[in-house]
Amino acid sequence: MKALVTGGAGFIGSHLVDHLVRQGIDVVVVDDLSMGDVENIKNRDLVTIYIEDVRNERFMQQLLQQENFDYIYFLAAVASVADSIERPGETHAINHNAVLSTLEFIRAAKLPIKQFLFTSSAAVYGNLPELPKREDSRVDPLSPYAIDKYATERYVLAYGKLYDLPTVCVRFFNVYGPGQNPSSPYSGVLSILTSCLEDNKPFTLYGDGSQTRDFIYVEDVIQALWLITTKQANHQVFNIANGHELSLNSIIEIYEKVAGHQLDVQMAAGREGEVKHSVANIGKLINLGYSTHWSLKKGLGQYWKGA
Ligand code: UD1
Repeated sequence: MKALVTGGAGFIGSHLVDHLVRQGIDVVVVDDLSMGDVENIKNRDLVTIYIEDVRNERFMQQLLQQENFDYIYFLAAVASVADSIERPGETHAINHNAVLSTLEFIRAAKLPIKQFLFTSSAAVYGNLPELPKREDSRVDPLSPYAIDKYATERYVLAYGKLYDLPTVCVRFFNVYGPGQNPSSPYSGVLSILTSCLEDNKPFTLYGDGSQTRDFIYVEDVIQALWLITTKQANHQVFNIANGHELSLNSIIEIYEKVAGHQLDVQMAAGREGEVKHSVANIGKLINLGYSTHWSLKKGLGQYWKGA
């Protein structure tokens, strides 16, 4: 079996690559290292890594033609909402066009893939009040990032149905764990919290901390992705989350206990346009055989040990 992971040197991608290698799958990574780092991949000696941009159509087509992939995991993306607002054209080319042209090549060349998995985001739900979010809940994509994710999902599913391709989409909620880069203000809050607790730096809390999120440990994300692949769960969308809603204040409290010391919290105004509450219904994933292995306490404990 052979798999392509675009964005395979990134935070979630590198964990997926390590898992696929452990399953005995031949893995090829395409990553431009704009966010990722080859060092994130533990078994990199066993992996073929191309430092390339997924917008390079010629490169992508040659690779697809020559490699005969069974599984394609499309994780390459500009993952920041703020970036997509600052440079919507460029992020659209990566987050939408590159996915579509890959799919289009698979269709036109009739490549016999077993699964094409596209990674979307909880951002598609926007700020609508109904909670928990089900995959068939109303969407309200508010940023270029969310619009690209939603539009691409629709294409991926339409290609699946119209051209009988084995495609599937997942919507990530808040993913955390080792390998997440804390260097930007738009990095995942748990990577920032980890680095603040570790180095005794002040943490800026945007808003009053009552905002809620659904955090899932990266190992559980990989479990979910692998389940979707092995069950051949195609032509659907799956929320990838823990299914538990926690306020940022309670997350800070739990993490302080795990770390054994207090965090220096500095209050700031809430971020413009942010989602106030977010939590997923993960019934579809559970029906597929998924169960959460990592509570927030356990995940934070593991993350902290490795920090
Ligand atoms: C996350 C995703 C985003 C996705 C969105 C969908 C990450 C990194 N981002 O954004 O790609 O579109 O879900 O709903 O996973 N915070 C602080 N201080 C900080 C950093 C963050 O108080 O230094 C707060 C934020 O204001 C927010 C919460 O922590 O209220 C979570 O922030 P973040 O980890 O950036 O994730 P989302 O905003 O939920």
